[in-house]
Amino acid sequence: MVNDILTIYLNKFGHSPSLHMRAPGRVNLLGEHVDYNQGVVLPMAIDRQVDLFAAPNTNNTLNLYALDLDQSVSIRLDRLSQKTNLSGEPLDSWALYPAGIAWALQENNFTPSGIDVLYYSNVPIGAGLSSSAAVEVGFAGIWNQLNDWEIENLQLAQIAQKAENDYVGVNCGLMDQFASACGVAGHALYFDTRNLSWETAPLPPETVVVIADSGIRRELSDSAYNERRASCEQAVKLLQQYMPDIKSLRDVETTEFMAYKPYLPELVSRRAEHVVKEIARVKSAYNALLRNDPAIFGALMYAGHASLRDLYEVSTPELDTLVELTRHIPGCYGARLTGAGFGGCTVNLVEQKQAEVFIQSLQAGYLQKTGLQCQVYICHASQGVSVCN
Ligand code: GLA
Repeated sequence: MVNDILTIYLNKFGHSPSLHMRAPGRVNLLGEHVDYNQGVVLPMAIDRQVDLFAAPNTNNTLNLYALDLDQSVSIRLDRLSQKTNLSGEPLDSWALYPAGIAWALQENNFTPSGIDVLYYSNVPIGAGLSSSAAVEVGFAGIWNQLNDWEIENLQLAQIAQKAENDYVGVNCGLMDQFASACGVAGHALYFDTRNLSWETAPLPPETVVVIADSGIRRELSDSAYNERRASCEQAVKLLQQYMPDIKSLRDVETTEFMAYKPYLPELVSRRAEHVVKEIARVKSAYNALLRNDPAIFGALMYAGHASLRDLYEVSTPELDTLVELTRHIPGCYGARLTGAGFGGCTVNLVEQKQAEVFIQSLQAGYLQKTGLQCQVYICHASQGVSVCN
């Protein structure tokens, strides 16, 4: 495979690549829609990734070849704000991610050099597994490596988030880029999005993480994501009347929230209740990992899903079906939708020895209930962005 890629690269750019980078997607085990509320999250990088082959050029141009799409574009690095190709036409959305990284590096006072990059991915697009964060982190990694900047992985993630927020125009938190940059093989990452500290926790032995793809897709940039963010900000403003010191929903304990809940408008109250309790669930789940208690961890996953469905209202009937089916399949500790929601995947914690039967039962049940096929596969916690030799 890599030999074929090298030939394609050579044909495209007329020289060989000098660097092969890899940046993974992520699955979030728990802590959904809390990273923009300064909460704690529990993602892991997965063994699905973007592979990028790169070499520097001397004409100050970002030359891209997206193999999966079979599309190329060239972008001047001194005209990134225009978001156009060499002929002045607007960039296609796929090209905004690499261009956004070059732009965000410049905003951080780095000077990205011209590069020729061929890349492809096996992270499904729009499935809640952070395919775009993987592309962003991969490009940030390339420039970091080719220029010997030695930027820390966490800062690469922040640069990638800036690209997505301010160049691509999606108001996401830091979780996805963090997991793609800082992933640790075999471990979940307990990441505090307020002070940016993080710990790792091994996944329970004799369990596997299984991803089930509902096949339903919806764009993250949909206004629904930004609406949820706005409701959380409104909740903070209203709660500050009673708790003037709070800066975000992270600062509100569940007991305090329940005391003031009656004073909030119904919709805002539901959104905020999800966030406050989800942050508490992540803390409990992290402790469950440290004590090696998959049963509690799984119960918290189910509770998290119910909250996303009923309070935060980001689930879909298909995701709900996938989660409900697991309650009748032996060996499943817990299941929930993962990522922003509105489609995409569920994540399941399953006893290793039951995994094959679990996968078959879930696929069969989903087909029977919805008439739809779903892809279900085991995934392993993997290392974050890295150079391949
Ligand atoms: C998307 C965003 C993340 C996070 C999740 C929901 O994946 O990119 O920052 O907000 O949704 O938890």
